[in-house]
Amino acid sequence: MYPIYTHEKSREIFERALKVIPSGLYGHQGPAEGCWMPVEEWPAFTEKAQGSYFWDVDGNKYIDYMCAYGPNILGYNDADVDAAAMEQLKKENCVTAPHKIMVDFAELLVDTVACADWAFFCKNGSDATTGAVMAARSHTHKEKIIFFKGYYHGVHPWSQKIDYPGIVPGDVAGSVYVPWNDEAALEEAFRKNKGKVAAVIGQPYWHGNFADNVLPKEGFWQKVRKLCDENEAALIIDDVRTGWRLDLAGSDHYFGFKADMICFCKALANGYNVSAICGQEKYKNAMSSLSYTGSYWMSAVPFAAGIACINKMKRLGLPKVLNEKGKQLCDGLVEIAKNKGYDLHATGAPSLFYLRLANDDIKGTPSLFLHQKWIAEMVKRGVYLTSHHNHFINASLSDEDIKITLDIANEAFDAL
Ligand SMILES: Cc1ncc(COP(=O)(O)O)c(C=O)c1O
Repeated sequence: MYPIYTHEKSREIFERALKVIPSGLYGHQGPAEGCWMPVEEWPAFTEKAQGSYFWDVDGNKYIDYMCAYGPNILGYNDADVDAAAMEQLKKENCVTAPHKIMVDFAELLVDTVACADWAFFCKNGSDATTGAVMAARSHTHKEKIIFFKGYYHGVHPWSQKIDYPGIVPGDVAGSVYVPWNDEAALEEAFRKNKGKVAAVIGQPYWHGNFADNVLPKEGFWQKVRKLCDENEAALIIDDVRTGWRLDLAGSDHYFGFKADMICFCKALANGYNVSAICGQEKYKNAMSSLSYTGSYWMSAVPFAAGIACINKMKRLGLPKVLNEKGKQLCDGLVEIAKNKGYDLHATGAPSLFYLRLANDDIKGTPSLFLHQKWIAEMVKRGVYLTSHHNHFINASLSDEDIKITLDIANEAFDAL
């Protein structure tokens, strides 16, 4: 029997946070968007992390399958990445002119990423998707952006929705929405907006929240590529979440096509804060033309971390290793669920698996109530999962961690 965790200190700190921080904890790491249901089963604050674990402020240890929502790809506090970052920190970080390591990092990305003739650095995934969309608009002198419904490309106004707080109609006037995997709808969107589409932006596969994840249909991306070419629109791939967990050459390469621009963040430097837009030669001048930068965008420490991270991912044979670990875990979970009489769906790439218990679906529509309860039973025994978002595998996850996870899954299903 695994001990049942409680979170008194987390709650205490959360109460303090509510007084001085809007909503206490915001965004995807807060209870609402993190969808900690039932909320009292989740820790709110962490104390330390190592490898594939973190410890919360109450001293509970978790096997962490959220990996900081993606950045942890080699293991928390990876010795090689941290050593490279610390060595750079001794020299300089944020200085009047950038350190030459910025050029080394750009060269490494150009050598590694199939569609990349250049690399442009910023901080967050939202900066990268925004920069790519602006470059597409600058290059094409067109306004419209086609999105696949259920997308997430960050938080900048152009990527939000008309009914979101703080958004005005002008922010999203250029947005056109089509269903994922629907070639005919995309063709129709191009037809209706003839001569106006600057770009199609998409995640490499549908990894939205609250629903099973969906891979591209055979030939889908090739058709998208063709339509973009015919309509002189840029094809932008948002690899912020999937990047480095499908293919080190980019997820477009994995699915057999070439993006015009591709956006990376999250796992790019194993948790150090840097994002990148990589692109084809054709879009380089447009990227140069933008009024686009930030106080910390050329900091050297994350560049050093990024170089060490990419080189280590290559040495370890990622992402194959991550997908094997993910498959071992998902196969085990689905089997245990079946033996206990539950229908557990594991979808998406195994390195970014999405889980959903489907026993209480209502006429094919996910209910998620049962699923949330099972996930909470896992979390309170030390396996950190969320109930509505895809998960992440990191390279330090051991066979023993997977075994413990499966043991806990057995107990969690019994408790359910
Ligand atoms: C697919 C995708 N695009 C963009 C973003 C935005 O990245 P950031 O939160 O670093 O701005 C995210 C973040 O979760 C993401 O998953």
